[in-house]
Amino acid sequence: MSMRDVKLCLLGDSGVGKSSLVMRFVTDSFKPALESTIGASFMTKTVEVDGNTYKFQIWDTAGQEKYRALAPMYYRGAAAAIIAYDVTRESSFKSVKSWVQELRHQGHPNIVLAIAGNKCDLEDLREVRLKDAEDYAKQIDALFCETSALTAVNVADIFTKICKKLPSE
Ligand code: GTP
Ligand code: MG
Repeated sequence: MSMRDVKLCLLGDSGVGKSSLVMRFVTDSFKPALESTIGASFMTKTVEVDGNTYKFQIWDTAGQEKYRALAPMYYRGAAAAIIAYDVTRESSFKSVKSWVQELRHQGHPNIVLAIAGNKCDLEDLREVRLKDAEDYAKQIDALFCETSALTAVNVADIFTKICKKLPSE
């Protein structure tokens, strides 16, 4: 049985729910009024997938524009990145595309990319169609899930999918 460290970073616009996704994954909880992240925050979580142990070292970056320039410090050297958007905010989906461009140019060439369409519990407010996001993810060979940090749907799944897609060491 192997134990593997996985450096992962979360990127995406402020308010899409990056910290909430991490909190759901790490402590299986949800806070309705979470403070906006300052700089970045760090957490770890160990999971077992297919008999292997993965220790995620999670860098949860701050989405506010004033912190934009710090992002490379966190995605550089990352084995995986989750780029999150809010399904109720089209502009946040557009930002996903610019993060993908940036990671393709500046990130590790083998970085595993996952896109998370968060807040899928807010179906009535939806602005981004599932099909459009799925097609985009397929086109760039990224993993994709719609998630809800509130209801927990698909949150652990996205991390499991990442484990399965990591290139063998
Ligand atoms: P920054 O730290 O500023 O980059 O924001 P963030 O992406 O970390 O967002 P955060 O996790 O702080 O969530 C922003 C708001 O959205 C909070 O009020 C959360 O409670 C709410 N939220 C997060 N995830 C969900 C979700 O899945 N569903 C719903 N309904 N609300 C959510
Ligand atoms: Mg945050």
